[in-house]
Amino acid sequence: MSFDVAAVRGQFPILSEIIDGLPVHYLDNGASAQTPLAVIDAVRHYETTGRANVLRGVHRLAERATESYENARAQVATFLGVPTMEIVFTGGCTAAINLVAYSYGSLLKPGDRILLSEIEHHSNIVPWQLLRSRAGIELDMLPVTTDGRIDLEALPRLLTPRTKLVSLAHVSNVTGALLDVRAVVEAAKSVGARVMLDGAQRAPHGPLDLPSLGVDFYAFAGHKAYGPNGIGVLWGRPELLDAMPPFMGGGSMIGRVTLAETTWAPSPRRFEAGTPAIGPAIGLGAACAWMQALDWTGAHDHEMALVQRLMDGLQKIDGTQIFGPASLQNRYPVVSFMLDGVHPHDVAQTLDSFGVAVRAGHHCAQPLMDRFDLDGTTRVSMAPYNDNSDIDALLAGVAHAAKTLR
Ligand code: ALA
Repeated sequence: MSFDVAAVRGQFPILSEIIDGLPVHYLDNGASAQTPLAVIDAVRHYETTGRANVLRGVHRLAERATESYENARAQVATFLGVPTMEIVFTGGCTAAINLVAYSYGSLLKPGDRILLSEIEHHSNIVPWQLLRSRAGIELDMLPVTTDGRIDLEALPRLLTPRTKLVSLAHVSNVTGALLDVRAVVEAAKSVGARVMLDGAQRAPHGPLDLPSLGVDFYAFAGHKAYGPNGIGVLWGRPELLDAMPPFMGGGSMIGRVTLAETTWAPSPRRFEAGTPAIGPAIGLGAACAWMQALDWTGAHDHEMALVQRLMDGLQKIDGTQIFGPASLQNRYPVVSFMLDGVHPHDVAQTLDSFGVAVRAGHHCAQPLMDRFDLDGTTRVSMAPYNDNSDIDALLAGVAHAAKTLR
């Protein structure tokens, strides 16, 4: 049976809204995806039938809240293919990377090296620059090929016995390129380095099997994966998490506190100081269960057909140029393009007048823009609920921009 996009769309109420007289052609999923009723209902259920703090109270509501919160952890774990207690809830993907940069980073010594790439989102650059200032570590950068992929041929040159961690985007938020994780893990292992993936743009496209990827840390954001804002996930190998000091101090993360000293709870509690984002965690659990139930073979084929339709359509519009992989192999449905002589913000504003939402600019990847001497790009980022009408509306808008703005 073919993928039933109409049935998927029907689960996302916002997609049938008319806003200011225009339909919603939402193609900015890389920034934040939309949320299905299953997630909205799960959060509402917690807020209306089980709202209390977690891991503290002995009353029924507190027990119900704790159960829902821990059930969400289990749903996320199932989505990633790992044991439940290896999941740390964080404030987002950025918070998860900062956690590793701070806590794992505090175990590093001056002169140790971390390998990143020129394609990274600022969230996978700045936390390491902060660590460099604090701890005297060194950063190395893998270059990017002209078709927008991390150039893994540079791995042997840039990996050294001092390299302790390689931290890379699993899927680029600008070009949609999928990382060859196996090649990275194999090369990193040969020098004893750990591997962290920023999974922000990969997680929204289906369940993962982290053990088979062979990485050491994985981070993703709730709001890009059909869940609420303010919640994210860090997975780490338990022996690494348990060796790392806390990132923040407060309630819940302690073993025993005296005025003289404090001992830490084991992970994941050690990294969840204070009252967590309970409702958002429950929503993210529901989002993971929702993704788990989707037909991803059909969804992926559908997303790639949209990418093909988009690329074919853009190529017919004079002055457009795609920045990223030209083929559908090893890529996800994020497509960046430039329109000659027109600033990406102006393209995006024209598209908005067609009811089409995209992101334009540097996409929090200024080093990548600098490397290719770009002001920015217009980025189309898709989800399984997008359909041909979204792509066709976008193409009509770009054709209009090409005619009127040049
Ligand atoms: N990281 C998000 C993006 O790429 C905000 O748009």
